[in-house]
Amino acid sequence: MTADDQKRAAGEAAAALVQPGMVVGLGTGSTAAWFVKALAARGLKDIVGVPTSVATADLATGLGLKIKQLDEVSTIDLTVDGADEVGPALSLIKGGGGALLREKLVWENSRRCVVIADAAKRVAMLGKFALPIEVVGFGHKSTMARICDVLAEFDIGMAPRLRSRDGAPVKTDSGNLIYDAACGRIEEPAALAAALKSVTGVVDHGLFLDLADMALVGTPDGVVTLE
Ligand code: 5RP
Repeated sequence: MTADDQKRAAGEAAAALVQPGMVVGLGTGSTAAWFVKALAARGLKDIVGVPTSVATADLATGLGLKIKQLDEVSTIDLTVDGADEVGPALSLIKGGGGALLREKLVWENSRRCVVIADAAKRVAMLGKFALPIEVVGFGHKSTMARICDVLAEFDIGMAPRLRSRDGAPVKTDSGNLIYDAACGRIEEPAALAAALKSVTGVVDHGLFLDLADMALVGTPDGVVTLE
């Protein structure tokens, strides 16, 4: 079973949780895309999707799903999204696809959040996957220097790398930049999360703590539920 098979199985298991009439947060990335496809295939009545990225909005509308933006709905019943790492107590690193800010906004406004992943995403400690940190473009190098000060307090010595593609900085859907911090081991995720948020110029980071209610992890033996 490939990682993509596992992502697909997790996405389909999550789609089975959706009931007619629900407002559903739609995550971003290859695993979330399997969920969106499986959801559309169910053809449930009166489903509204709240996308976490332009890419997901395009995918959902292309599949015939009705979408609304976050501020156009009063509540989100369930959000389903992927992750780059799934650690202890459903702590997560997200943002490999660059949608962390909109994802966190949608997650925080959801009654229930389900993370879907392939088995390779499970880790005993967060940090092997470089932590995405979204910053405003103005003064981003100075912001990065402040971020380095914060990381040093947590014994993380590597300078974050500005995410770029084809030699140009990647811009998020909200027009910001992303630095990826190779932390190695994040021993105090809550403290690091708070410290990063306190840096002026940092919009958000990819640590999702105490947000996921359940994980559906595709494995060679089937989909495993973590709560
Ligand atoms: C996007 C994300 C994705 O959910 C995360 O990168 C996982 O992606 P994939 O499902 O393609 O492995 O956080 O910002």
